[in-house]
Amino acid sequence: MLCCLRSPLFMMFRFRTTPLPPGPKPWPLVGNLPEMLINKPTHLWIHNLMSQMGTDIAHIRLGNVHVIPVTCPEISRKFLREHDAVFASRPYCMSAEVVTKGYHTIFSMPVGSRWENTKKIIASHVLSPVKHHWLAGKRLEEADNLVRFVYNQCVSYDKTGMVNVRTVAQHYCGNVIRKMLFGRRYFGTGKEDGGPGVEEEEHLEAIFTMLKCLYSFCISDYLPWLRRFDLDGHEKVTREATMIAGKYHDPIIEERINQWEKGTKTAEEDLLDVLINLRDADGNQLLSKDEIKGEVTELMVATVDNPSNALEWALAEMLNQPEILEKAVEELDRVVGKDRLVLESDIPNLNYIKACIREAFRLHPFAPFNVPHVSISDQIVSGYFIPKDSRVLLSRKALGRNSNVWEEPLEFKPERHLNNNGAKVELKESELRFISFSTGRRGCPGVTLGTSITVMLFARLLQGFSWELPPNQSKIDLSEAGDSLFLAKPLVALAKPRLPKNLYPVN
Ligand code: HEM
Repeated sequence: MLCCLRSPLFMMFRFRTTPLPPGPKPWPLVGNLPEMLINKPTHLWIHNLMSQMGTDIAHIRLGNVHVIPVTCPEISRKFLREHDAVFASRPYCMSAEVVTKGYHTIFSMPVGSRWENTKKIIASHVLSPVKHHWLAGKRLEEADNLVRFVYNQCVSYDKTGMVNVRTVAQHYCGNVIRKMLFGRRYFGTGKEDGGPGVEEEEHLEAIFTMLKCLYSFCISDYLPWLRRFDLDGHEKVTREATMIAGKYHDPIIEERINQWEKGTKTAEEDLLDVLINLRDADGNQLLSKDEIKGEVTELMVATVDNPSNALEWALAEMLNQPEILEKAVEELDRVVGKDRLVLESDIPNLNYIKACIREAFRLHPFAPFNVPHVSISDQIVSGYFIPKDSRVLLSRKALGRNSNVWEEPLEFKPERHLNNNGAKVELKESELRFISFSTGRRGCPGVTLGTSITVMLFARLLQGFSWELPPNQSKIDLSEAGDSLFLAKPLVALAKPRLPKNLYPVN
């Protein structure tokens, strides 16, 4: 009987008779692309459509691609846990192809042995606990530079203490990953006060442009024959940003490969050395030059967005609710004290800080949707037929704001993440009640590094400085940008040093 139920004929019958998730009626050939194009930004159109239909899962046909957005944790877990093996692939699309120069990164590779092997290699040789520990000194240098840069904005004679928090947070993340990868903070000569030089500004802008373009709703991803016309201009923007990043990365990578080949470099000092020296059991190099370049871009892109966006939003929310800010600072004073700067070894004990970060990830994710997951075969999920090659988009925004899961979902309340039993707070959220590092085969391999960077960013800024609203301002405007989930205006706040002077790093 059981084998009858699994027979190909029976499965075909089941697939044929099971409905697609609800969604707007598609036009012939173009599907719902016309609606997508007149309802920008697309993420708002999709979310509005779903709430009007009262559904947590939808089917939207864009060109001939089935797009399946999901807004509740139960159904999300079915995709990423119960049927993870079916939904672990990624789409072929313009932005991923251009940014990764032909899918040379883990996040962009379709499921298969190449992706599996590369992910295993990077997880066990590059993002491993041993390598994380090895590079602790480099991360500490950048945590010190973060404090120095903000301090210099408070005390220099012409400075007011007004700090652009977005700039500080984004550049700290960029500095950490550049230092870990290339052993340097600056591509050029940098700035005396610890801030970014023009090169770092250009580099980071290019990385954030790449992030904005990646998997954005580009016409040619749904009607590939239109690609050469680049109707929405996405390809031009993506190519320019990729070229700028390459202008900084490639000469360093090529020179380093040369140094190892000529034998003028013999000791590994950073992750680029590690990537170049990866070998299989027979001593053959594991990554080609293009793959090394792809991996460098991947590690840059993966590191800068989530931590900096979480810090900016959380601090904006906390400036409007100073009691939360006080609790976070009280925890730092209790756990670390005021005689030394907070260190990575304090992270396990900073539960309130981690609760603030989880709350920022929940309420203010960097992107509206998770990276797309593509199905490798037909599947029935939650009573709906999901055709092969569907692109499943878990909504980071709607999961975190789902009122069936979260009380007062639009309120910033870190307390909801504290464990009653006193257990340590973690940034991971495997139940997908919101998305931090996601879960399953495609789950993020950078949890340890991502946690260290994010917690140190929060903890150093809150321990080192008291933060206030700018003069003549009674509240921070918490509007979203609209075309993205960024705070509409970069957060500017007043910082004042709060520790003994000798603790502030001078260079
Ligand atoms: C707080 C920081 C971070 C957050 C919140 C985060 C979150 C995520 C998310 C949501 C995904 C997509 C998972 C999915 O498809 O279901 C992902 C994938 C990925 N992340 Fe992270 N990440 C962070 C930091 C990092 C860091 C520091 C690295 C490495 C330097 C990294 C490397 C990757 C890679 C390589 C993937 C692709 C995995 C795959 O496709 O198999 N991430 N991350």
